[in-house]
Amino acid sequence: MKFVVTAGPTREPIDPVRYLSNRSSGKMGYAIAEAAFEERHEVVLISGPVCLPPPPLNLLRVSTSDEMFDAVHAAVRDCDVLVMCAAVADYKPAQVTTSKMKKRDEKFSLELVPARDILQSLPRDRDFFVAGFAAETNDIERNAREKLRHKNCNMIIANDVSDSAIGMESDNNAVTIFFEYGAPKSIACAPKNVIARQLVKIICETAQKTFDKKNLRMNDS
Ligand code: PMT
Repeated sequence: MKFVVTAGPTREPIDPVRYLSNRSSGKMGYAIAEAAFEERHEVVLISGPVCLPPPPLNLLRVSTSDEMFDAVHAAVRDCDVLVMCAAVADYKPAQVTTSKMKKRDEKFSLELVPARDILQSLPRDRDFFVAGFAAETNDIERNAREKLRHKNCNMIIANDVSDSAIGMESDNNAVTIFFEYGAPKSIACAPKNVIARQLVKIICETAQKTFDKKNLRMNDS
């Protein structure tokens, strides 16, 4: 299959030297891209700024959420599976100043506007499978199921980012996968490359079932 995988954080500029970002290291997304590549799938990895060595596959580097938005929309024109593992900004500064902001002695506020949501912007009637991630600190199942519906994903992979032993920056993770249909599946704490191999297997099996169902419906009508 043709995989598009996103990884890492985005950086939302405030001025020429400052930005808003998050702690995503890119490890989980890179591990998924590499696991899919090892299984001989074609892979495009769209990566935010990270400190990881570039893997030997098609790597596209982006920085802002707008750049990631454009790169994902271009890449999915010709893909079977999109895995949105990147920690894309939810908000960005309303204005970016062209010169460095001066230090002030008084309080000031920064106005933020919502960043475009990549998953929500994808067409509902599409011929590729979408696996989203849910980075949660509480009410994991409720929030993940809400994102599965609201962000129009075929499955969502939830991880607890309040636990420093797993999730962001860590070499390990533990996930629970929620599907459009059927019972959730959990993968216990393990190195991210081990989790990634299992995820690729589950994604391929579920994507294949989804494509088969769609073909059956098309043949019926
Ligand atoms: O990079 P690591 O250090 O290895 O950490 C891995 C991880 C914790 C970042 C990863 O496993 C993970 O959870 N990634 C999703 C992070 C995130 O942004 O989650 P969210 O619950 O805020 O967003 C839900 C989904 O919407 C995600 O698939 C996200 O890519 C997508 N999104 C978010 C914002 C936006 N503007 N557009 C989007 O499409």
